[in-house]
Amino acid sequence: MKERETRIIHTRGERLSRKTVNPPLERASTVLFDTERALYDSKPGYGRMGLTVHRELEQALCELEGGTHARLAGNGLQACALAIASCVEAGGHILFPDSAYGPTARFCERRLAAMGVSSERYDPRIGAGIAALIRPETQAIFIESPGSLTFELSDTPAIVEAAKARKVRTISDNTWGAGYFHQPLSLGVDMVVQALTKYVVGHADAFGGVVVTKDAGAYNRLAMASEDFGITLAPDDAYLALRGMRTLHTRLRAHEAAALELATWLEARPEVAEVLHPALSSSPDHAIWERDFTGSSGLFGIVLNPIPEGGMDRFLGALHLFGMGFSWGGFESLIIPCDEQLTRKTDGAPTRPGRLLRIHVGLEAVSDLKAELDTAFRALGQSA
Ligand SMILES: Cc1ncc(COP(=O)(O)O)c(C=O)c1O
Repeated sequence: MKERETRIIHTRGERLSRKTVNPPLERASTVLFDTERALYDSKPGYGRMGLTVHRELEQALCELEGGTHARLAGNGLQACALAIASCVEAGGHILFPDSAYGPTARFCERRLAAMGVSSERYDPRIGAGIAALIRPETQAIFIESPGSLTFELSDTPAIVEAAKARKVRTISDNTWGAGYFHQPLSLGVDMVVQALTKYVVGHADAFGGVVVTKDAGAYNRLAMASEDFGITLAPDDAYLALRGMRTLHTRLRAHEAAALELATWLEARPEVAEVLHPALSSSPDHAIWERDFTGSSGLFGIVLNPIPEGGMDRFLGALHLFGMGFSWGGFESLIIPCDEQLTRKTDGAPTRPGRLLRIHVGLEAVSDLKAELDTAFRALGQSA
């Protein structure tokens, strides 16, 4: 059996036309048929079901995540909502981590509530303790490891064990591990979700989402929920995601190396109180990272020591290579202040003093990124 990198590059579906390296991009709602029978029996019978590019992307994503069935969505949030909606019904209950991506938490607390499903946050480091939160009506546990913005790892195998003992379904948002550095399906999770918008697309120019599973029953429920909501991925976005798949592993290794170099450099800076990066040996989650991950991506956080008044504005104003904007996973470096995530919603308690910054390390030369941050730190320290 060939290596995964090779298999991902060489996934190729049935082609009707010439044997090109890449599949044809069909921009189509309507598909035409010659007979009434073909009209009703053919699959795909309508563009919403996806065409050649979609099938090839699904195949490559199954290779990536170690699954057998994939369902595409228009963006990562839609994929999270789809996976969750396929696992719960009115009267049920879902557990999700307090450090979950904000809009996923909002979906659980606002949309599911409107659908008669209750939700509850858990401490992402709860591990086997999750068993105490599982109720008779609990139908699903959502995992996101590392957590958004604060980067705690969850003990996925321990959560899966507790869930399976009570016949509760598990879903893992694997956007950070990108399927390449982390494979929750191999740890027993029922469904894995990715925002393809991040590393798979890799160039900040398209959206996409996917849910992958190796359980045919789970896939049937997913397919039904997806059909009910009319979830699709635009063909052009699917094409860009498939193109991104072919270079994902080389880009991820470059993001990983650059992020580790920068994170280690930041750990030694006097302005930095803490670097939140599970692959650093200083991380309280390092043992879980070593056990469950084969690498780390380009996204991590830093907590700053107290700063003089106006310091943050001066710091951010001195940055040019680091853009300030939402999203991550592209070739360019990004930074956002995101202090709110330091406060746990479970008890309203701040986990740490100081200001939190999330950094995405792009593919620029690390020496240039360090030089720019050095200038920005000097500006931060100046008195107002
Ligand atoms: C961990 C995680 N999951 C899901 C999403 C949602 O992805 P999208 O922006 O494609 O909806 C994001 C977006 O930032 C994310 O960080």
